[in-house]
Amino acid sequence: MSDPMDDAKPRNLGGSLPVPNVQALAARTDELALTPTLLRRYVRPQPNTVDLRPDAPAGAEQEHVPVIDLGRLLAGGRDEEAARLRSACEDWGFFQVVNHGIPEEILEEMKRNVMEFFALPLAEKAALAQEPGGVEGYGQAFVVSEEQTLDWADMLFLLTQPPSYRDLHLWPSRPSTFKNCLESYSVEVQRVAGELLGAMAENLGVRDHSDLTRLAASQSVRMNYYPPCPEAHVDRMLGLSPHSDAVGLTLLLQVSPVPGLQIRRNGGWLPVTPLPGALIVNVGDVIEVLTNGKYKSVEHRAVVNTREERMSMATFHNGNFGTTYGPLKEVVGEEEPRYRNVSVEEYTKLVFSSKLDGKNIMDAMKIN
Ligand code: OGA
Ligand code: NI
Repeated sequence: MSDPMDDAKPRNLGGSLPVPNVQALAARTDELALTPTLLRRYVRPQPNTVDLRPDAPAGAEQEHVPVIDLGRLLAGGRDEEAARLRSACEDWGFFQVVNHGIPEEILEEMKRNVMEFFALPLAEKAALAQEPGGVEGYGQAFVVSEEQTLDWADMLFLLTQPPSYRDLHLWPSRPSTFKNCLESYSVEVQRVAGELLGAMAENLGVRDHSDLTRLAASQSVRMNYYPPCPEAHVDRMLGLSPHSDAVGLTLLLQVSPVPGLQIRRNGGWLPVTPLPGALIVNVGDVIEVLTNGKYKSVEHRAVVNTREERMSMATFHNGNFGTTYGPLKEVVGEEEPRYRNVSVEEYTKLVFSSKLDGKNIMDAMKIN
């Protein structure tokens, strides 16, 4: 019998077509820089819908994503917090987690390192550029055709856990604290992800919690840099296209104070304002598969603004390569499974060969 291979990652997971560096493009102030031809690839045919809650009665108060106190969830007064988590997973797909036990210094250090990295000269960042056919490094993801509308952002994507998945030559060596900082951050966030998944397993009545906590076995990070965008196009550009996360569980750190994340809610787009020290958590597509649709991944996007740059850092959690994803028998019960079984490797390749487009990955996973 062979163990699930947690010490090897497949090499050819896919890649993205090369695209211009957006930070450099946005920084150009010469006359010829931001011509319609250059910007054409970023401008959407339709203006972005902005309506927050089209169905809300006039004067209704704006909703806020639920807040989960992890300390309380794991300690005594479990029931109330567990019920809050259950409804966050069933009804929202998004919540903020506070009292998570990650030292404030680690969060602040991580933010500082991400900001310092993106502030480096282009040539230094370009030394970490994605290699053809590779997903890790500095560049862009999910560009599969020359025709698709591009997002107004750059990103740095790295695999962080388990350590054997790391490609350390793509980890920044400047700022000099980056690697150590990412290591500490990664361990803390992975712990929180595991604890949340354990609480979800409890809520779902899944006896063997590892059926869910195994979704924290591997981890990757996506650091997003959204430059200010040209005034004339702000309503037709996006920093990140509407998508759900094709992963197990995402924990997002808002790096700079500028808002921008919006989630799909009641047919509109609801802005999320991070609480100080909180992480924003969302249910990924894989949890939707495992729970047979009981918990749903929710679409979200990032808007840009004309004045300020914005940075964020998403930490994704998944099962290890060598394992599979499929609806859990205990959750499916007497129902029909709605999603097919797929190996983590096949699933990952599907994700990296697709464009970021709403819940397209979920559609590909659905039975019939
Ligand atoms: C992501 C994401 C949102 C943001 O990286 O998957 O949804 O606010 N980011 O940057
Ligand atoms: Ni996302």
